Amino acid sequence: MYIDDSVLQNNEKIIFALRSLFAKRGFSRFAMSKFEEYDTYVGNKDFLVSDNVITFTDTNGKLMALKPDVTLSVVKSSPDTPAAVKKLFYSENVYRVSKGTDSFKEIMQTGVECIGNVSCEEICSVIELAAESLALISDSAVLNISSLDIIGSLLSSADDSIRHEIYDAAGDKNVNLIRKFAEGNKIDSDAANALISVLGINDSVASAYERLQQAATGCVDEKSMIYFREILARLSKSEFADRISVNFSVLGDINYYNGVVFKGYIKGIPDAVLSGGQYDMLMKKLGRKSKAIGFAVYTDMLDSAASETELEDSDEYINVALPKGRLGEKVYELLEKAGYECPELLDPKRKLIFENSEKKIRYFWVKPADAAIYVERGAADVGIAGKDILLEQSPDVYELLDLGIGVCKMAIAGPAGFEKKEGTLKVATKFPEIAKSYYASKGSDIDIIKLNGSIEIAPILGLSDVICDIVETGKTLAENNLVVLEDVAPISARFIANKSSYNFKAKQISRMAEALVPFLGGSK
Ligand code: PRP
Repeated sequence: MYIDDSVLQNNEKIIFALRSLFAKRGFSRFAMSKFEEYDTYVGNKDFLVSDNVITFTDTNGKLMALKPDVTLSVVKSSPDTPAAVKKLFYSENVYRVSKGTDSFKEIMQTGVECIGNVSCEEICSVIELAAESLALISDSAVLNISSLDIIGSLLSSADDSIRHEIYDAAGDKNVNLIRKFAEGNKIDSDAANALISVLGINDSVASAYERLQQAATGCVDEKSMIYFREILARLSKSEFADRISVNFSVLGDINYYNGVVFKGYIKGIPDAVLSGGQYDMLMKKLGRKSKAIGFAVYTDMLDSAASETELEDSDEYINVALPKGRLGEKVYELLEKAGYECPELLDPKRKLIFENSEKKIRYFWVKPADAAIYVERGAADVGIAGKDILLEQSPDVYELLDLGIGVCKMAIAGPAGFEKKEGTLKVATKFPEIAKSYYASKGSDIDIIKLNGSIEIAPILGLSDVICDIVETGKTLAENNLVVLEDVAPISARFIANKSSYNFKAKQISRMAEALVPFLGGSK
């Protein structure tokens, strides 16, 4: 049969190329229905990207779902064969709520699962296949791999109550927060220092082990080190070795994943286009004896490559999102001291983009609340955002430095001596997510009243009982006869980076972060 491939879109061509690659590597096609029994997801909601699932009742009265995930269906519909190795590939649509919205999206996933008696050899061949899949899509692609055993071992001394917070901080490269946990004796200080050094590793599979040894020996159990060394040694012999780098901020939910996990990035696409890892824990949870590893390529994303910009040399320049206003001026002072000056930036004209062609740096003035979005979506490689914005929006970015400027706090404020006697507490705020998660952590139910400014008048007018807002000098509260009732979180400006740019502009980003360190303010 003749197929005219000029009628195919780029991502359709890639799907076909991936399918033939997987078949060539000995994986067989696994086809499945779009529908799955809803029960499949009930006990494993955390495994899903979002717990919103489209459901309907079939003619037999059974509650069904439009598949939000492929792996669970593959495992569920194939018999447990712990002595054999099953190699399957699929190309399926899943239905998920996209981040930051309430709307469902149909997402195409093409991927593999290797299930059963999975040895180190199979694990490496799946990782290699992930790197080969990326190479097939683009010449500028990197697979970041990490070991959950090593991170888990480094966190073994951490206080149970905050282990997941330290784990999340590791995923964000937020070493500042890890240091704070160590200062508060929430984690052993040697383990914290080792973790911080380990998170700084951004090396090839050939050289990463030496750095890992220097950073973590004595703090990580030997078995995990030996196992990861074996994986790295095998991968360094691969034809695709130069496309794999070690980055311990690539993590997965430890209730499901174990061993090696990985994410693939392509230059020009701000998010990971490939995600995978060993998931023996999920198999165990599902009552299976088999081990497993797999990955999926999100082929829809391949169309989301940044559209051609009108800006020159986007490859070479480091693009920085700067928050306009009070904070922005302080931030610029810091950047200037660190050697990243761009004097025309302070020109009062209404221009918003500025360059220093000698330093290869380009600044954008953006609304403070938008800085993290520019970075998360890759329009800027790095940026400066207030911790309030990061807590509110939870963008998927690395938080590399606390700049120690714009220091203030998020607090609950209200009339002095306020105590809620009955009914649900009414909280007015510009930060509904922060307020929700603060009260959820205390187990209290609240009514949120989302406002856009002048929050302090809400309790005066009886619109709310209290407010959740930023307090800097405390003057605004005092002028409105309010006082701080509870502290929620310390706030300051943070230097953040896009996770994909972190791979492709690694040197520029780390040079910039290092140059800023000597000039940080006092809030560390
Ligand atoms: C913030 C915050 C408070 C004020 C606190 O408002 O919402 O109103 O600063 O500062 P203080 O403790 O030093 O008095 P911002 O100036 O950002 O204006 P907005 O309310 O219009 O966003």
